[in-house]
Amino acid sequence: MGPSAFIVSCRRASRTSNRRPRVTNRLLTSLPWISNLHTVDSFTPDPPPSVDSAAPAAPEPHRYRVTLLPSGWQFDAPADVPLLLAAQAAGIKLPSLCRNGTCRACLCRVQSAGDPAPASVAYRIEWPGLSRDEKAEGWLLPCCSYARADLTIDAPDAALC
Ligand code: FES
Repeated sequence: MGPSAFIVSCRRASRTSNRRPRVTNRLLTSLPWISNLHTVDSFTPDPPPSVDSAAPAAPEPHRYRVTLLPSGWQFDAPADVPLLLAAQAAGIKLPSLCRNGTCRACLCRVQSAGDPAPASVAYRIEWPGLSRDEKAEGWLLPCCSYARADLTIDAPDAALC
């Protein structure tokens, strides 16, 4: 029952009540100048908030370009999607088993010109199944890593799904 229905039911109940009027009611009816001070308030619920259609939408996560070698296949990896799932969304299957960074079935390496360099990725777990040295040499686990730059990855076992 909303506020207006509640007030109506209270008024109806007070009119039909067999109880003696309370002192304040008698006082109000006997002293007209006081009755002018008497007010009845009722409340209605606030209107629902309007949806501002001009409000800006949440920004799209940044996307990075990933190239697989030796196939040359490419896909876009949103910054908030693991590389493995981004590849899968593009129709590319990379090896995987656990998908949580422990089995190393998805292990692959970033190709970079010159010396080994750490992959520009972020991990959702602090220490995936990679040593510090492996990270420094560009090894990565696509199942739990997120691109932070365009990448070229050596993935000879990639397949189309
Ligand atoms: S699938 Fe197991 S570590 Fe990536």
